[in-house]
Amino acid sequence: MSTLAISDQEFSQFQQFIHRVAGIHLSSAKKALICGRLGNRVAQKGMASFGEYFRLITSGHAPAETQVAVDLLTTNETYFFRESKHFDLLRQHASAARGRAEPFRVWSAASSSGEEAYSIAMVLADVLEEGPWEIVGSDISTRVLDRARTGHYVEMRTRNIPPAYLKRFCLKGTGSQAGTVLVSKALRGRVGFTQVNLNETLPAALGRFDVIFLRNVMIYFNNDTKRQVVGRVLEHLRPGGYFLIGHSESLNDICDSVEQVAPSSYRKP
Ligand SMILES: C[S@@+](CC[C@H](N)C(=O)[O-])C[C@H]1O[C@@H](n2cnc3c(N)ncnc32)[C@H](O)[C@@H]1O
Repeated sequence: MSTLAISDQEFSQFQQFIHRVAGIHLSSAKKALICGRLGNRVAQKGMASFGEYFRLITSGHAPAETQVAVDLLTTNETYFFRESKHFDLLRQHASAARGRAEPFRVWSAASSSGEEAYSIAMVLADVLEEGPWEIVGSDISTRVLDRARTGHYVEMRTRNIPPAYLKRFCLKGTGSQAGTVLVSKALRGRVGFTQVNLNETLPAALGRFDVIFLRNVMIYFNNDTKRQVVGRVLEHLRPGGYFLIGHSESLNDICDSVEQVAPSSYRKP
Protein backbone atom coordinates (compact mmCIF):
# COMPACT_ATOMS: atom_id res chain seq x y z
CA MET A 1 0.00 0.00 0.00
CA SER A 2 1.45 3.34 -1.05
CA THR A 3 1.81 6.20 1.43
CA LEU A 4 2.49 8.83 -1.24
CA ALA A 5 0.29 11.93 -0.85
CA ILE A 6 -1.50 13.51 -3.80
CA SER A 7 -1.79 17.30 -3.93
CA ASP A 8 -5.05 19.01 -4.95
CA GLN A 9 -3.36 20.19 -8.13
CA GLU A 10 -2.19 16.68 -9.03
CA PHE A 11 -5.64 15.22 -8.32
CA SER A 12 -7.19 17.85 -10.55
CA GLN A 13 -4.79 16.88 -13.37
CA PHE A 14 -5.97 13.25 -13.17
CA GLN A 15 -9.61 14.42 -13.00
CA GLN A 16 -9.12 16.36 -16.24
CA PHE A 17 -7.23 13.49 -17.87
CA ILE A 18 -9.94 10.85 -17.29
CA HIS A 19 -12.68 13.30 -18.24
CA ARG A 20 -10.95 14.12 -21.51
CA VAL A 21 -10.24 10.48 -22.36
CA ALA A 22 -13.26 8.56 -21.04
CA GLY A 23 -15.82 11.26 -20.22
CA ILE A 24 -15.69 10.15 -16.59
CA HIS A 25 -16.41 12.76 -13.93
CA LEU A 26 -14.24 11.88 -10.91
CA SER A 27 -15.64 13.63 -7.88
CA SER A 28 -13.32 14.93 -5.17
CA ALA A 29 -14.90 12.36 -2.83
CA LYS A 30 -12.88 9.76 -4.80
CA LYS A 31 -9.56 11.39 -3.95
CA ALA A 32 -8.49 8.84 -1.30
CA LEU A 33 -9.56 5.90 -3.48
CA ILE A 34 -7.67 7.21 -6.51
CA CYS A 35 -4.66 8.12 -4.41
CA GLY A 36 -4.49 4.48 -3.24
CA ARG A 37 -4.95 2.91 -6.67
CA LEU A 38 -2.60 5.23 -8.58
CA GLY A 39 -0.17 5.50 -5.68
CA ASN A 40 0.70 1.81 -5.92
CA ARG A 41 1.45 2.20 -9.62
CA VAL A 42 3.55 5.34 -9.06
CA ALA A 43 5.55 3.43 -6.44
CA GLN A 44 5.94 0.38 -8.74
CA LYS A 45 7.36 2.66 -11.41
CA GLY A 46 9.88 3.94 -8.85
CA MET A 47 8.59 7.49 -9.24
CA ALA A 48 8.72 10.15 -6.56
CA SER A 49 5.43 11.93 -7.26
CA PHE A 50 2.00 11.72 -8.91
CA GLY A 51 3.07 14.69 -11.06
CA GLU A 52 5.91 12.67 -12.57
CA TYR A 53 3.49 9.81 -13.39
CA PHE A 54 1.00 12.27 -14.87
CA ARG A 55 3.71 13.64 -17.19
CA LEU A 56 4.51 10.10 -18.35
CA ILE A 57 0.91 9.13 -19.19
CA THR A 58 0.24 12.38 -21.03
CA SER A 59 3.60 12.49 -22.87
CA GLY A 60 2.31 10.51 -25.86
CA HIS A 61 5.37 8.25 -25.56
CA ALA A 62 3.92 5.60 -23.23
CA PRO A 63 0.53 4.48 -24.64
CA ALA A 64 0.61 1.22 -22.69
CA GLU A 65 1.03 3.14 -19.44
CA THR A 66 -1.75 5.56 -20.44
CA GLN A 67 -4.01 2.49 -20.74
CA VAL A 68 -2.89 1.25 -17.30
CA ALA A 69 -3.87 4.64 -15.85
CA VAL A 70 -7.30 4.46 -17.56
CA ASP A 71 -7.75 0.94 -16.15
CA LEU A 72 -6.91 2.22 -12.65
CA LEU A 73 -9.24 5.20 -12.92
CA THR A 74 -12.34 3.20 -13.93
CA THR A 75 -14.69 1.41 -11.55
CA ASN A 76 -15.55 -2.07 -12.78
CA GLU A 77 -18.00 -3.47 -10.19
CA THR A 78 -20.41 -5.94 -11.83
CA TYR A 79 -22.04 -9.32 -11.24
CA PHE A 80 -24.02 -12.02 -13.06
CA PHE A 81 -27.75 -11.36 -13.63
CA ARG A 82 -27.47 -7.88 -12.11
CA GLU A 83 -30.87 -6.09 -12.19
CA SER A 84 -32.53 -9.32 -13.23
CA LYS A 85 -35.78 -7.86 -14.69
CA HIS A 86 -33.80 -6.87 -17.78
CA PHE A 87 -33.09 -10.52 -18.45
CA ASP A 88 -36.84 -11.30 -18.42
CA LEU A 89 -37.33 -8.59 -21.04
CA LEU A 90 -34.43 -9.99 -23.07
CA ARG A 91 -36.01 -13.44 -22.90
CA GLN A 92 -39.35 -12.10 -24.23
CA HIS A 93 -37.77 -10.12 -27.05
CA ALA A 94 -35.50 -13.01 -28.07
CA SER A 95 -38.43 -15.49 -27.99
CA ALA A 96 -40.29 -13.27 -30.46
CA ALA A 97 -37.28 -13.51 -32.81
CA ARG A 98 -37.20 -17.34 -32.81
CA GLY A 99 -36.95 -18.77 -36.31
CA ARG A 100 -35.60 -15.51 -37.76
CA ALA A 101 -32.86 -15.97 -40.37
CA GLU A 102 -30.93 -12.84 -39.36
CA PRO A 103 -28.75 -13.19 -36.23
CA PHE A 104 -30.21 -11.82 -32.99
CA ARG A 105 -27.48 -9.44 -31.77
CA VAL A 106 -26.96 -7.99 -28.30
CA TRP A 107 -24.34 -5.46 -27.15
CA SER A 108 -23.09 -5.20 -23.59
CA ALA A 109 -21.67 -1.70 -24.07
CA ALA A 110 -19.76 -1.32 -20.78
CA SER A 111 -19.21 -4.99 -20.13
CA SER A 112 -16.54 -4.79 -17.47
CA SER A 113 -15.22 -8.32 -16.78
CA GLY A 114 -17.95 -10.07 -18.81
CA GLU A 115 -20.55 -11.16 -16.25
CA GLU A 116 -23.27 -9.13 -18.01
CA ALA A 117 -22.39 -10.48 -21.49
CA TYR A 118 -22.31 -14.11 -20.29
CA SER A 119 -25.62 -13.66 -18.43
CA ILE A 120 -27.11 -12.48 -21.75
CA ALA A 121 -25.49 -15.46 -23.51
CA MET A 122 -27.10 -17.93 -21.07
CA VAL A 123 -30.57 -16.49 -21.77
CA LEU A 124 -30.04 -16.52 -25.55
CA ALA A 125 -28.63 -20.06 -25.52
CA ASP A 126 -31.74 -21.12 -23.58
CA VAL A 127 -34.25 -19.32 -25.82
CA LEU A 128 -32.62 -19.38 -29.26
CA GLU A 129 -30.51 -22.52 -28.78
CA GLU A 130 -28.45 -23.22 -31.91
CA GLY A 131 -30.19 -20.44 -33.89
CA PRO A 132 -28.20 -17.47 -35.17
CA TRP A 133 -27.31 -15.11 -32.32
CA GLU A 134 -24.23 -13.28 -31.12
CA ILE A 135 -23.09 -10.97 -28.37
CA VAL A 136 -20.55 -8.17 -28.36
CA GLY A 137 -19.06 -7.07 -25.04
CA SER A 138 -17.01 -3.88 -24.98
CA ASP A 139 -15.30 -1.67 -22.45
CA ILE A 140 -12.64 1.04 -22.35
CA SER A 141 -10.54 -0.98 -19.90
CA THR A 142 -8.32 -3.63 -21.51
CA ARG A 143 -7.60 -5.16 -18.09
CA VAL A 144 -11.27 -6.12 -17.57
CA LEU A 145 -11.63 -7.26 -21.20
CA ASP A 146 -8.73 -9.68 -20.71
CA ARG A 147 -10.52 -11.08 -17.67
CA ALA A 148 -13.81 -11.27 -19.61
CA ARG A 149 -12.24 -13.31 -22.43
CA THR A 150 -11.14 -16.01 -19.99
CA GLY A 151 -14.74 -16.57 -18.79
CA HIS A 152 -13.18 -17.78 -15.54
CA TYR A 153 -14.68 -16.55 -12.25
CA VAL A 154 -14.38 -17.11 -8.54
CA GLU A 155 -17.28 -19.40 -7.56
CA MET A 156 -18.59 -16.98 -4.93
CA ARG A 157 -19.16 -14.40 -7.66
CA THR A 158 -21.45 -16.77 -9.61
CA ARG A 159 -24.14 -17.11 -6.93
CA ASN A 160 -26.75 -15.12 -8.88
CA ILE A 161 -26.64 -17.48 -11.84
CA PRO A 162 -29.86 -19.58 -11.79
CA PRO A 163 -28.85 -23.12 -10.67
CA ALA A 164 -30.11 -24.73 -13.91
CA TYR A 165 -27.94 -22.34 -15.98
CA LEU A 166 -24.95 -22.89 -13.73
CA LYS A 167 -25.27 -26.62 -14.33
CA ARG A 168 -25.86 -26.29 -18.06
CA PHE A 169 -23.42 -23.55 -19.07
CA CYS A 170 -20.59 -23.60 -16.52
CA LEU A 171 -17.88 -26.00 -15.41
CA LYS A 172 -16.95 -26.21 -11.75
CA GLY A 173 -13.22 -26.22 -11.18
CA THR A 174 -11.58 -29.16 -9.43
CA GLY A 175 -8.10 -29.71 -8.02
CA SER A 176 -6.02 -26.55 -8.42
CA GLN A 177 -9.11 -24.84 -9.97
CA ALA A 178 -11.39 -25.63 -7.02
CA GLY A 179 -13.46 -22.62 -5.98
CA THR A 180 -13.65 -21.31 -9.56
CA VAL A 181 -16.16 -21.63 -12.39
CA LEU A 182 -15.46 -21.59 -16.14
CA VAL A 183 -18.13 -20.49 -18.63
CA SER A 184 -18.50 -23.28 -21.22
CA LYS A 185 -16.49 -23.05 -24.44
CA ALA A 186 -19.67 -23.08 -26.54
CA LEU A 187 -20.99 -20.01 -24.73
CA ARG A 188 -17.62 -18.24 -24.79
CA GLY A 189 -17.55 -18.79 -28.55
CA ARG A 190 -20.74 -16.73 -28.94
CA VAL A 191 -19.37 -13.65 -27.14
CA GLY A 192 -16.74 -11.39 -28.69
CA PHE A 193 -14.99 -8.81 -26.50
CA THR A 194 -13.48 -5.68 -27.98
CA GLN A 195 -12.23 -2.32 -26.71
CA VAL A 196 -14.66 0.54 -27.41
CA ASN A 197 -14.45 4.00 -25.88
CA LEU A 198 -18.02 5.30 -25.69
CA ASN A 199 -16.61 8.83 -25.42
CA GLU A 200 -15.37 8.70 -29.02
CA THR A 201 -16.87 8.05 -32.45
CA LEU A 202 -17.99 4.42 -32.40
CA PRO A 203 -16.58 1.89 -34.91
CA ALA A 204 -19.11 1.35 -37.73
CA ALA A 205 -18.07 -2.32 -37.72
CA LEU A 206 -20.09 -2.79 -34.51
CA GLY A 207 -23.17 -3.01 -36.71
CA ARG A 208 -26.75 -2.94 -35.44
CA PHE A 209 -28.22 -4.64 -32.41
CA ASP A 210 -31.60 -5.95 -31.25
CA VAL A 211 -30.83 -5.12 -27.62
CA ILE A 212 -28.22 -2.82 -26.08
CA PHE A 213 -27.26 -2.94 -22.41
CA LEU A 214 -25.70 0.39 -21.33
CA ARG A 215 -25.86 -0.14 -17.61
CA ASN A 216 -24.11 1.48 -14.68
CA VAL A 217 -21.70 3.54 -16.73
CA MET A 218 -23.71 6.75 -17.29
CA ILE A 219 -23.49 7.41 -13.53
CA TYR A 220 -19.88 8.44 -14.18
CA PHE A 221 -20.77 10.93 -16.95
CA ASN A 222 -22.11 14.50 -16.77
CA ASN A 223 -25.27 15.33 -18.74
CA ASP A 224 -23.42 16.55 -21.84
CA THR A 225 -21.38 13.36 -22.05
CA LYS A 226 -24.51 11.25 -21.37
CA ARG A 227 -26.32 12.92 -24.28
CA GLN A 228 -23.43 12.32 -26.66
CA VAL A 229 -22.88 8.72 -25.56
CA VAL A 230 -26.59 7.79 -25.70
CA GLY A 231 -26.90 9.46 -29.14
CA ARG A 232 -23.95 7.46 -30.51
CA VAL A 233 -25.06 4.18 -28.96
CA LEU A 234 -28.66 4.45 -30.17
CA GLU A 235 -27.48 4.71 -33.77
CA HIS A 236 -26.51 1.07 -33.36
CA LEU A 237 -29.98 -0.03 -32.17
CA ARG A 238 -32.41 -1.48 -34.70
CA PRO A 239 -35.90 0.05 -34.87
CA GLY A 240 -38.05 -1.97 -32.45
CA GLY A 241 -34.93 -2.82 -30.43
CA TYR A 242 -34.53 -2.43 -26.66
CA PHE A 243 -32.19 -0.12 -24.78
CA LEU A 244 -31.50 -0.99 -21.14
CA ILE A 245 -29.84 1.31 -18.61
CA GLY A 246 -28.94 0.89 -14.93
CA HIS A 247 -31.74 1.08 -12.35
CA SER A 248 -30.19 4.15 -10.74
CA GLU A 249 -29.78 5.91 -14.11
CA SER A 250 -32.23 8.02 -16.07
CA LEU A 251 -32.74 9.38 -19.59
CA ASN A 252 -34.60 12.48 -18.34
CA ASP A 253 -33.24 15.51 -20.21
CA ILE A 254 -30.87 13.18 -22.05
CA CYS A 255 -32.84 11.64 -24.89
CA ASP A 256 -36.43 11.47 -26.11
CA SER A 257 -36.00 9.31 -29.20
CA VAL A 258 -36.82 6.09 -27.32
CA GLU A 259 -40.01 5.23 -25.42
CA GLN A 260 -39.97 3.84 -21.91
CA VAL A 261 -41.55 0.38 -21.63
CA ALA A 262 -40.57 -0.52 -18.04
CA PRO A 263 -38.26 0.95 -15.38
CA SER A 264 -34.86 1.63 -17.00
CA SER A 265 -36.03 -0.14 -20.18
CA TYR A 266 -36.67 1.67 -23.48
CA ARG A 267 -37.71 0.75 -27.01
CA LYS A 268 -36.70 2.45 -30.24
CA PRO A 269 -39.84 3.14 -32.30
C1 LIG B 1 -19.61 -0.30 -13.04
S1 LIG B 1 -19.11 -1.11 -14.52
C2 LIG B 1 -20.69 -1.66 -15.14
C3 LIG B 1 -20.62 -3.06 -15.70
C4 LIG B 1 -21.95 -3.65 -16.18
N1 LIG B 1 -22.50 -2.91 -17.29
C5 LIG B 1 -22.95 -3.73 -15.06
O1 LIG B 1 -23.96 -3.02 -15.08
O2 LIG B 1 -22.73 -4.52 -14.13
C6 LIG B 1 -18.78 0.32 -15.56
C7 LIG B 1 -17.83 0.00 -16.72
O3 LIG B 1 -17.85 1.11 -17.64
C8 LIG B 1 -16.56 1.22 -18.21
N2 LIG B 1 -16.40 2.56 -18.80
C9 LIG B 1 -16.24 3.74 -18.17
N3 LIG B 1 -16.09 4.74 -19.07
C10 LIG B 1 -16.17 4.16 -20.30
C11 LIG B 1 -16.09 4.67 -21.62
N4 LIG B 1 -15.89 5.97 -21.88
N5 LIG B 1 -16.20 3.80 -22.65
C12 LIG B 1 -16.40 2.47 -22.40
N6 LIG B 1 -16.48 1.94 -21.18
C13 LIG B 1 -16.37 2.78 -20.13
C14 LIG B 1 -15.63 0.94 -17.04
O4 LIG B 1 -14.35 0.54 -17.47
C15 LIG B 1 -16.38 -0.17 -16.29
O5 LIG B 1 -15.91 -1.45 -16.63
